[in-house]
Amino acid sequence: MRAWTVTAQDDDVRLSDVPEPVLRGGGVLVEVLAAHLPAYTRAVVQGNRGGLPVPLTLGPSCVGRVIDVAPDVFHLEPGDIVLDTALLDAGGGDEVLVGWVGLGGSGAGSERTDRMRAVWRDGVFAEKALCAKETLVKLPGAESYPDPARLAFLPWLGIAAAGLHAAGPAAGRDVAVIGATGQLGGAAVLTALAEGAATVTAVGRNEDALGRLAALDPRVRTHRLTGDRATDAAGIGPVDVAVDTLGAAPSADATMAAYDSLRGRGTLVLVGGVRQDLAVPYGDLMHRRLTLRGSWMSDQRTVTTVWNLVRSGVLDLSAVELRTTGLDDPAAALGLAERTTGLGFVALVPGPA
Ligand SMILES: NC(=O)c1ccc[n+]([C@@H]2O[C@H](COP(=O)([O-])OP(=O)(O)OC[C@H]3O[C@@H](n4cnc5c(N)ncnc54)[C@H](OP(=O)(O)O)[C@@H]3O)[C@@H](O)[C@H]2O)c1
Repeated sequence: MRAWTVTAQDDDVRLSDVPEPVLRGGGVLVEVLAAHLPAYTRAVVQGNRGGLPVPLTLGPSCVGRVIDVAPDVFHLEPGDIVLDTALLDAGGGDEVLVGWVGLGGSGAGSERTDRMRAVWRDGVFAEKALCAKETLVKLPGAESYPDPARLAFLPWLGIAAAGLHAAGPAAGRDVAVIGATGQLGGAAVLTALAEGAATVTAVGRNEDALGRLAALDPRVRTHRLTGDRATDAAGIGPVDVAVDTLGAAPSADATMAAYDSLRGRGTLVLVGGVRQDLAVPYGDLMHRRLTLRGSWMSDQRTVTTVWNLVRSGVLDLSAVELRTTGLDDPAAALGLAERTTGLGFVALVPGPA
């Protein structure tokens, strides 16, 4: 079958002919229907986000149709439509993302995560994938969803929803999304609206993308980042919840502006890829009874919640601009993904050989 592989740390992603995966204990064989291609996939392949366990078939998450299940798999059967979250959790902080970078806990990995990655290494940018049963969530009713490629956005919605839920229910509260012009930020805006936020302040640099978000719903406000912390805090808040979904920004100023914008008892949730330390003022956090939370990936319950929002039409995925690509030209596809943010995303649709 055809798959996107990476053979060494300094190698590019390549289209390769590889043997079809063979079913084994704890595994589920799926036909990949569509896989989200994150905007920063090229940076991942270039090693800028930690080491990939090479050689491997790349790809963290997808929507697929179950072809076959191992004898010890009971929650799925052939024909089911599933979401692969990539998250394999052995407990105690030992978590890996199959087919991708990123380790849970301290992020340093352990002898146990090495063993997990040795057994479950290959991802989903391929015609078929063998997935660990723990990574799969059933999507009841998805067989009749009119546009399955669009469902490849569900993993990002799940990650955004997990971040939002870390601050408690959104209903009736004022929520800000920092980095709302990115794919994860757009997902957070859609989820907050679907879950009944009173207002959603979309914060980012890209004016066009902010305009598209404003057009979604009268509850959306926008703030264009100025780079000045005090000005940005005043433009963002006051809010009850701020969710930071920024990419690898070179400073923590926008994140700290979000912190400053919180009302008393408010919560700032960190979900993004900022690689900076935060200087959080002890007395201010204490006196204003603020909460600072982190959120990584999603869990099966949250994925099911998000799927139910989509399935019921409360969260309408037609608001998201879908661009599809096949397996033929990985370099062009990664370029397209890099350029596609702001309520848009690229789905890899492997299709038949
Ligand atoms: N916690 C988790 O479980 C989890 C899961 C998946 C991803 N992530 C992280 O989430 C981050 C965002 O992912 P994504 O898919 O949304 O990526 P994306 O579509 O590329 O979005 C990146 C966002 O960051 C903004 N940004 C980048 N550099 C900036 C800067 N210097 N100053 C201000 N804003 C800046 C972009 O603003 P513009 O639109 O103005 O360029 C955009 O809003 C990634 O870095 C990733 O590491 C975390």
